[in-house]
Amino acid sequence: MMVSKELRVAVLGAGAIANQHFDAIRATEGFSACAVADIHLDKAREIAGLYEIQPYCDYKEMIAQEKPDVAVIALPHDLHKESAVYAAGHGCHLMLEKPMAISVAECDAIIEAGRQAGIRILVGHTQHYIAENILAKNIIQSGELGKLVMIHDVRHTDYFNDSRPQWFLEKDKSGGGILANLGTHSIDKIQWLTDRTVQKISASASFHGRRGNVEGSVMIYMELDDGIPATIVQSGYLGAARNETEIIFTEGMLKLATGESLWISRGGSYEKLEPAQAAAPFELQYADLLSAIESDCEASCTPEYARQVIAALEAAYRSAETGTLQILHR
Ligand SMILES: NC(=O)c1ccc[n+]([C@@H]2O[C@H](COP(=O)([O-])OP(=O)(O)OC[C@H]3O[C@@H](n4cnc5c(N)ncnc54)[C@H](O)[C@@H]3O)[C@@H](O)[C@H]2O)c1
Repeated sequence: MMVSKELRVAVLGAGAIANQHFDAIRATEGFSACAVADIHLDKAREIAGLYEIQPYCDYKEMIAQEKPDVAVIALPHDLHKESAVYAAGHGCHLMLEKPMAISVAECDAIIEAGRQAGIRILVGHTQHYIAENILAKNIIQSGELGKLVMIHDVRHTDYFNDSRPQWFLEKDKSGGGILANLGTHSIDKIQWLTDRTVQKISASASFHGRRGNVEGSVMIYMELDDGIPATIVQSGYLGAARNETEIIFTEGMLKLATGESLWISRGGSYEKLEPAQAAAPFELQYADLLSAIESDCEASCTPEYARQVIAALEAAYRSAETGTLQILHR
């Protein structure tokens, strides 16, 4: 593909995920990083030193001064909407971290700002770029294991560990706990792998975290298109870490240990599959955005798709609060 000029990229947020963005930007011919903003200027300065770019404290000042072609939103979830709308309003294409925002209404505001500005938005649902996930999706699409019957997704992690920034544990800043942060990966993974969307959802949650006011566990039952059932079980309390998705068909099963391995059974015990070597997920994400900008087409993970994840998230919280089954209206 012909790259006419280097597109300048500025990153909003110099936190835990920022380095992965900068490494991927550096690895992508056609993009070059120009600046980083963080409300804690020391963090911006540290990253700016590593990547030889300009540090800022105020992301609005950074966008006004640097006039980047692309803004990467890697901020706490409650700031995704205001920063995305601001950057779009200044003509920046967006690499917007997941979850897209903390409500469907906020997603709609971002989508509208993008339309008005005529910019491209890629929401960073990294699941789409993990080699084992891509192979699993190909197997599902091929139909070689028969009819899809159901999906079972389990994740356990010590969510309230001391190194987790406090904002993740405050509902008004994060939009919720393990479900908003990690459950959105699961909702996305299930929808994307199966090319189906969540139609019905029922959830229960518990609130026993050592700090903050967000849920520490969820148990979710969903129905996808064609009535395919899926469960998501997540615990953020102490215990053995696990991140597995089992996909069950009439003639076999797949098991994903996300980011680690993929297993197949056609009747006997599971056998490990070796996916083709792929570039790092973040690099694939940036290649995707670059291609969308250059060809003036939708990025593969559109904000309209990412909005569906937030619609399911919102419905799950509504279900947990009210004890009722939620039907999603599209
Ligand atoms: N794709 C993935 O697998 C993945 C992994 C981790 C995080 N994330 C997402 O990335 C985003 C950032 O997460 P993180 O783990 O880097 O969080 P973090 O807390 O480590 O980083 C957020 C940074 O934003 C800064 N910040 C807060 N308010 C600001 C403001 N008004 N202006 C400028 N900077 C401000 C904070 O000081 C902090 O350095 C979240 O959306 C998160 O869900 C995605």
